[in-house]
Order: sequence, then C-alpha cells, then structure tokens
Amino acid sequence: MGGNVSKEDIRGDTKEEEKPLVVVAIDFGTTYTGYAFSLVRSPTQIYTGKYKNKLVEDREPTTVLLKPDGSFDSFGYRAIRNYGHLSKQEQQNYRFFKTFKMELHNTTDLSHDTMIKDVRKREFSAAKVFSYVIEYLKSLAVSVMREDTTDLKENDIQWMISIPAIWSDSCRQFMREAATSAGIPEEKLRLVLEPEAASMYCRERLMVATGAASIDELPIGYKYILADLGGGTADICAHEIIERAKLRELYKASGGDFGGNKVDLEFYKFMINLVGGPVWTIFQDDYMPLSFEFMKEFEAKKKTFTSDVQTVSLKLENALLEILKTETDETLEETLSQMTSRYKGKLSYKRVDQRLEIKGDIMADFFKHSIDGVISKIKEILGECGEVQTLLLVGGFAESQYLRERIQAKIKNVRILLEQDARLAVMKGAVLMGYKPRNIIERRAWYTYGFSKVRLFQRGTDPEDLKVKKEDGKEYCDGLFDIQIKKGQIVKYDEMFPSSTIELLKDQASRKNTITIELWKSNRKTPRYCTEEEECSRIAEIVMKPPPKGWPERIRIERQLVMGETELQIQIKNATTGEKYETRLDFLEVNKTL
Ligand SMILES: Nc1ncnc2c1ncn2[C@@H]1O[C@H](COP(=O)(O)OP(=O)(O)OP(=O)(O)O)[C@@H](O)[C@H]1O
Ligand SMILES: [Mg+2]
Repeated sequence: MGGNVSKEDIRGDTKEEEKPLVVVAIDFGTTYTGYAFSLVRSPTQIYTGKYKNKLVEDREPTTVLLKPDGSFDSFGYRAIRNYGHLSKQEQQNYRFFKTFKMELHNTTDLSHDTMIKDVRKREFSAAKVFSYVIEYLKSLAVSVMREDTTDLKENDIQWMISIPAIWSDSCRQFMREAATSAGIPEEKLRLVLEPEAASMYCRERLMVATGAASIDELPIGYKYILADLGGGTADICAHEIIERAKLRELYKASGGDFGGNKVDLEFYKFMINLVGGPVWTIFQDDYMPLSFEFMKEFEAKKKTFTSDVQTVSLKLENALLEILKTETDETLEETLSQMTSRYKGKLSYKRVDQRLEIKGDIMADFFKHSIDGVISKIKEILGECGEVQTLLLVGGFAESQYLRERIQAKIKNVRILLEQDARLAVMKGAVLMGYKPRNIIERRAWYTYGFSKVRLFQRGTDPEDLKVKKEDGKEYCDGLFDIQIKKGQIVKYDEMFPSSTIELLKDQASRKNTITIELWKSNRKTPRYCTEEEECSRIAEIVMKPPPKGWPERIRIERQLVMGETELQIQIKNATTGEKYETRLDFLEVNKTL
C-alpha cells in the first residue's frame, strides 16, 4: 500500500465519488478467519492480515481466548499459544473457543441470549464471542490502514462481512448485531453471501473459460456451479450470467457437513478406535497445545494426500503415548495388535521415531464422507440445471488434490476449475463486492414468506380451530397465510412485494397497546394457513408502538416486504392516514417468545 498516502492518493484517478474509499472484508470461517482490504484506486490489489504482519497468515484459526472476567484475551494462533502457556488452574478460569461458527446454524432457536460452549463445555454469550473477534480484526485493519494513511477516518471505510448462504434470517441478524456492537456503524456494513463473494472473485477465471474479453462481456446464459468447500460446510450453488455481467441464482443448495473438517472428525474416530476414548479425551483436553500440534501434522498430511500416496506417516506426541500407558497399562504396539481386522496389515508403528504409519486406503476412508457428499450434490445440481459448462472450486478443502481427482473421475463433460488461492476466494471476493452495486445478483427465495391474515370464516372450508368471533358478532378465520414471496421465486435487491392490508378495531381499553405483526415462513410453495404445523413457522415479529394519543378506533395497516441486500425488510403504513412506522423485522426476539 506504501507509506503515508493521503486520501487523495487513495482516490487516485477514480472519479466515482459514490464508491467507498476503502473496503475491508471479514471472512468468519468455521476453521479460519481473517480480514482483507483494498483501496478504491486499485480494488483488485487486495491486502490480507499478513500485510505488515498483523496476522501470521492470511487467515488464522478461528479460536478465541477470554480472560476469567469474560473480557477478550486473544485470537487465532496467539489464543492457542496463550492458552497453552496457562497453568492448569488458570485454564479452568479462562475460556477457550474453537469451531463455534457451526453452532449458530445448528441452533434452531437463536436469540440475543444464545450461549455457546468453550472447550471445557462452559457456556458463554455467543453474541459476545462473535463481537470480540470482529472488534479485534477491525482494530487490526484500521491500525494498518492508519499507519499508511493518517487522514483516514472510520467513516471512509466500507465493511463487508461474509456469511454462509444457508444461514437463516435470524443468523444474519445475529451477525449484523455482532458487527454493530463491535463498533461497525450499521450504515457502513454490508453482509454478503459467501458463494456470491467467491463468485465475484472467480469472474476473471470465467473470462478465461469463456474467452470473454472483459468481465462485462461474459456470455449471457452461461451457467456454472460454484462449490465453496470450506471447513464446516460445503456450499454448492449454480449461477447463470445475465445481462451486464449480473448473476442469477439457478439453484441453491447446502452440501451439509461435507466440509474438510469432516475428514478430521473421521480421523478423530480412528484415533479413538486406536487409543480409546478416555485417553484421547485427556490428550485433547489437558494437552491442548500438543493436540493442536498433532492435528497440524495431520493437516499437513491431509493437504498433500493424493491417490498415489501409499503410506501416511504421523509422529505421535510423547504425551499421548504416556497417557496411554498410564490409563491402560498398554504400549501402542499392544494396542495395535488388538485393532479390528479392518485395519489388519494397514497400520504399523515405528517406536524408534514414534511414527504411526497408515496405509493410503485408510486415509482415503477419512475423506470418503465429504467427497461422496460433494459429488452427489454436484450431480443433483447438474440434473436440475441442465447444461452447465463449468464447475468452479473454491474454499480451503478444494485445494486438496485428492478431492479434485475424485471429482474429476466422477463428474464428466464439465470443465473443472480450481480458483487460485481458493481458500481466500470468499474474503477477497467480499472486498470486490464492496465496490459493486447491491443489485448484482438475483436470488431464489428459500421459503414462502407471508403474514398472518384474518377474513370472514368460510364454513366447510376453513379449519374450525381457526374460527374466532369478533366484537361485531361475526365469525372470522384467523391465521390465513397471506403469501408475499413464493418459494423458488426470483427476488431482486430493493424489490417490493405486494402489500397486505389488515383492518383492526380498537376499543378504548386497547388503544394504547402495542400492535404485533408476525412474519411467517413455509416450506410449501402455497400454504393456506399458518397452522400447517410441520411446514410453517413464525419467524419474525414487528412491534408497533401506538401514537401518543393512542390508536384510532379503526385502523387499516398496510404491510409490505422489501428485499434488502441479504435480509428482508419491512415497511408498515397506516393506510388510513398514510403515516409510516419505523420498523425492523426482528428474527431473534421471536425465538425467545415462541
Ligand atoms: N490443501 C488442502 N488440502 C486439503 N484440505 C485442505 C487444504 N487446505 C485447507 N484444507 C482444509 O480446508 C478446510 C478449511 O477451508 P476454508 O478455510 O475454506 O474453511 P472456512 O472458511 O474456515 O470454513 P467455512 O467456509 O465452512 O465456514 C479445513 O478443513 C482444512 O483442513
Ligand atoms: Mg469459508
């Protein structure tokens, strides 16, 4: 970036004043997390946390250490090191977190109060842990940019945070709140979907694949699959290029737990099989820095594994062998001799250098679940989307040669391209998106969304349990699903969906009460009632405060959904007076009240 540049220099020849001066993106991964930034004068010249050694690597392990009072201690490699230096007693009081991003997605009732567990299974506020990480990375990014540009103001920075496409609306709100409580101003924050960010980064590759002279000339109608093979998840989707190099989502899918960490989990299972659960747990819990070292060794072998590798050799830590001896009174040789027949002749141990040798086909087994999952998802998408020309691979796990060999063997007639710096595609792509307008992509709705509506009861049609009698003496059906957005429908940024009007009668007693409006979603394309239990759920609520003099006797409320960049927004109007209400969809509060 060069020392002492002014804001004028950053702007360079760029005349587009509306573009941010600098964009910083944070990629919060299951396994690795980091930040990257660039300046508007050359957006594609992207610096990562490694610039000026703020971080040891472009992204560091997603690990956090908190002090006994719950304040932030350290992140990444530093957190691992600091935790390792603590005495046994101190380790009881500090809190160490790893691989906690998946927990958000797995929590069905995510709220402001959701807790996550540290390595010792003690609970702590999830919101705080996420916020600490963002605050820390933010401070690093700001400090490195200030070193070079002294007149840079926080207001000059556009912040981008990438999130998995499969995240629910409540996870998205959770991340937004974590970022704002970390000090990122709401108006300077954009959430971007990980596969879309990666897609942005891959456009150069697509240019090469299609022979286009520039990104704007990418052929309209060109379809590709983008597979972001990360640690926690494999996000696989298909995009089509539409006019002016915009993208349209053809298919969205989540590969579930087919990320690279599944390989590690299979290896854990193997180790438990080998040394026994209790020994492995003691090694993991009480010798964490050493177990990290051991997993680092495995990671190195995982990275270099190909189908030609005959034997994988792993150096076992002294501590592990000692624990085995103390707990079971056995040596590893004795343990090996008792392994099941499945491993006969496939494992050996060299005492002289403490190396465990594993035959290649056992190692291949560790990859099986992830690779099979990825391949079957890709096949499913190919079946659905018709002619797809290219498969773009990004994410750290995509850097595995073995995985690519397997994909190549099973997926024919599609050009497979591995993005350079695959593990950085999301983070760098998120930086690039910061300079782009928000309407670059059209997506498909995951669910049908709608409000609950009341109308006159239709005998013989409506379910009896939805029948209510109102003040006017008439019978109504309460709980009709008033569809706003249909599952699978293409939705565009800033798109407004048809409004839905309800009429409420307010008696004297309820004039000063709040009015709550509920947003529902359904797995069905055309649900009729909100009570179709298996399929529908209430996902957000909007609480409207009464005006100072209270509500009028009869109030007509117009409700309308608007598509934001990644989240739904809502507009509410008093249809009688035209008065608009300040509102926000709250996807987190609803989980507490359900
Ligand atoms: N060369 C490689 N060969 C095999 N696996 C690799 C290689 N490089 C990284 N990985 C694996 O990729 C995973 C990390 O990928 P990545 O950094 O994309 O994940 P993440 O962004 O942290 O997770 P997610 O996107 O799921 O939240 C880890 O499981 C890691 O072991
Ligand atoms: Mg990722």
